[in-house]
This record gives sequence, C-alpha cells and structure tokens, in this order.
Amino acid sequence: MSGLDDVVGTHEIITPDDMEALGARMGRMLRAGDLVVLTGPLGAGKTTLTRGIAAGLGVRGPVQSPTFVIARTHPSLVGGAPLVHADAYRLGSAAELDDLDVDLAGSVVVVEWGRGMVDGLVDVWWEVELDREWHGHGVDDACGTTAHEAELDADAPRLVTITRRP
Ligand SMILES: Nc1ncnc2c1ncn2[C@@H]1O[C@H](COP(=O)(O)OP(=O)(O)OP(=O)(O)O)[C@@H](O)[C@H]1O
Ligand SMILES: [Mg+2]
Repeated sequence: MSGLDDVVGTHEIITPDDMEALGARMGRMLRAGDLVVLTGPLGAGKTTLTRGIAAGLGVRGPVQSPTFVIARTHPSLVGGAPLVHADAYRLGSAAELDDLDVDLAGSVVVVEWGRGMVDGLVDVWWEVELDREWHGHGVDDACGTTAHEAELDADAPRLVTITRRP
C-alpha cells in the first residue's frame, strides 16, 4: 500500500478545477493495489475527483459517471497501473462488488458510493468523504427539501476529507 498520507485530512475545494487538481495530486501518489472509496451525496463531486485521479495516473479517458456499467477499466498511457472506476450505487452488497472480479492487486480502484462495500475485500483502503460546505441552518423549504440538497449542484465549495481505513 502506498500513500495518500500527504493528503490525509480535510481540504476546502472551491471550484471543480480545484477538485480535479486534488484528484491529480492523489493520482500521482496512487499505485497498483490501492483502493479508494468515495462517499458523498449526489453531485458532490465524486466523478470530478475521479477525473483528476485519472489525469494524475496517466490513464486513458474519458472518465464518466458509470451509469450503465458498474465498473470501467481505463488502461495506463504511461506503462503504469490501470484505473478501475466502479459505481456501487446499484450494488446491493460487498459480495456483488467482489463478484466483479476486479484485479485489485494490479489496479488502482476507485469506488463511488462504496462505503461499507469494501470491508472484507481488502485490509487497508482510503476513504474520501465529499460534501458541500454548509454554513446554513438546514431549514426545509415548502417542498420539504433542505436548501442543502437543493443547492448541491450549484458552484459551491466542497469539503473533502481523506482518511486511511480501517
Ligand atoms: N467545488 C466543487 N467541486 C466539485 N464539483 C463542483 C464544485 N462546485 C460545483 N461543482 C459541480 O458539481 C457537479 C459534481 O458532479 P459529479 O458528477 O462530479 O458528482 P458525483 O458526486 O459524481 O455525483 P453522482 O452521485 O451523481 O455520481 C459538477 O457539475 C461540478 O461542476
Ligand atoms: Mg458520479
């Protein structure tokens, strides 16, 4: 396991470009065998961060939301490890993720919506939690949605917290 140790902690990410830049920094530090779990609400920036990771790794794009496929493999353009980008949103369990037979040892694996999905699959992984920076009071509007949810897609700073697990 190599290190995201240099980026462990909480980062304030102002723009989508900053999110990609953080991902690129992570991508340059990741090696085959590393697994990264991205957690955060719809539109938090998980795919944007993954796009940066792909750039930092030097793998073939484009990185898109894997809506119709559960995992997509991006081969390296620089003789390094491929990136496996998985979306666990529609997976029911860790067993189903295991069933994908991803080459964990030979790839860098990034799993969106993967919290609770990788326990038992690997001994050590990196958890990245993304959320909109929020200074309001979470008051519901007439439709019952909080301003927090309603504005998540808007350009707004995100807080990104990187932790080593378990
Ligand atoms: N500070 C920011 N960081 C990241 N994305 C931002 C930021 N501000 C605004 N955005 C926008 O938020 C959206 C994030 O979309 P993205 O697809 O990366 O989210 P996601 O977490 O992968 O969503 P999903 O849960 O649907 O997979 C993009 O449209 C991006 O431009
Ligand atoms: Mg996504």
